[in-house]
Amino acid sequence: MTQPSPEEPGSEAESFARDKADPGHRELFDVPPSEDGYYPDVAYFAGNSLGLRPKATRTELLEDLDSWAALGVEGHLEATRPWLPYHELLTGPAARLVGALPGETVVMNSLTVNLHLLMVSFYRPTADRFRIVIEDSAFPSDSYAVRSQARFHGLDPDDAVVRLKPRDGEDCLRTTDVLARLTPDVALVLLGGVNYLTGQLMDIPTITAAGHEAGAVVGWDLAHAAGNVPLSLHDWDVDFAAWCSYKYLNSGPGALAGAFVHERHLGDPSIQRFEGWWSTEASTRFQMAPESRPPASADAWQVSNPPIFSMSPVRTSLELFDKVGIGVLRERSIRLTAYLEALLAEVTPGRPLQVITPTDPLQRGAQLSLRIGGDRTAGELAKVLRSSYGVIADAREPDVLRLAPVPLYSLYHDCWRAARALAEVVPVTT
Ligand SMILES: Cc1ncc(COP(=O)(O)O)c(C=O)c1O
Repeated sequence: MTQPSPEEPGSEAESFARDKADPGHRELFDVPPSEDGYYPDVAYFAGNSLGLRPKATRTELLEDLDSWAALGVEGHLEATRPWLPYHELLTGPAARLVGALPGETVVMNSLTVNLHLLMVSFYRPTADRFRIVIEDSAFPSDSYAVRSQARFHGLDPDDAVVRLKPRDGEDCLRTTDVLARLTPDVALVLLGGVNYLTGQLMDIPTITAAGHEAGAVVGWDLAHAAGNVPLSLHDWDVDFAAWCSYKYLNSGPGALAGAFVHERHLGDPSIQRFEGWWSTEASTRFQMAPESRPPASADAWQVSNPPIFSMSPVRTSLELFDKVGIGVLRERSIRLTAYLEALLAEVTPGRPLQVITPTDPLQRGAQLSLRIGGDRTAGELAKVLRSSYGVIADAREPDVLRLAPVPLYSLYHDCWRAARALAEVVPVTT
């Protein structure tokens, strides 16, 4: 990294001024040190892949661990935060985050597992209605999940799974094109709320309503939406949804995931579920009866007793979201991403770099995705950004670089560093 020069995008001083006027909550997070030797911390843009650790996570996880040391099995009832009802501590904040009623939400398992458990309930193909609509650029895990669900029902996945592609020459899906494919053969629509590759925020209420009109069940993978954009799952009448907690929810690698089931499905005896002892009403759990008595809440989708030390970081993080508020975060996010976008607009002309995320802030979250040309793959470019500039970007090979300024902890100065690094590393070609 060299001394900044005057012809670089924006000015460093301006980015500092913006940080002063519009600070986030970086002081609450551990930001890794930078290897470039110029700035103390990295400019972290990979919160859409793995969010940073809140400082409180360590302290609170240690408290939970210490209850185990002090109490052994008695911790189920006597721990500082008793383990038996521990998951209930997460339900309220998770529900507020996604715009749900508490009874509609539960934190459990991991994302793809939750999608499977929810599809057991909500993908019930018939001879005439059996298709599952996903994006062609769905995250591979979703693609594998729906294909395996089709096979599980004795169907040919190539026939059952419809993959929606953007129009030729376009990177994002048009809502009208999604709606046009919601025909009477569709049993399930399962899309990403924010697409992992392009960063496109889908029109969740419009697509959900149209799916229902077509007679389909509509579920959403909110991995890149939860903690990134405000959601109103209950009011939007979404049937089910699932999300992970390791991206914008900063709960650590492989953290426990969330699940949502709309109130109108709760307590419906015709809905099938895979059950275990955590599916039964809490008051009946230790009656050791052969049959479960599931509650009329999303808790009924739980199977096993939850891993407390994995729940702890999710609880800490959700409390933080509860305190700051997703609405406030979204406002800062829009300002931060617009700033990065403006800086990139100074850098991309003449360079093999193209932003493929929608320009409309209402059609995207924090993330901007860049398609890169030239000699380097996205992974190679990300390596140089890290080693020479302390800029942590996320690569999706071969040619997409994702930059997500995260409103809780990213700085305007981080955006300036990323744009400047790209300007130095990617040569002008035209
Ligand atoms: C959109 C999306 N869906 C599914 C997954 C898979 O999640 P998990 O491994 O937690 O099941 C990811 C992981 O990054 C993702 O981004």
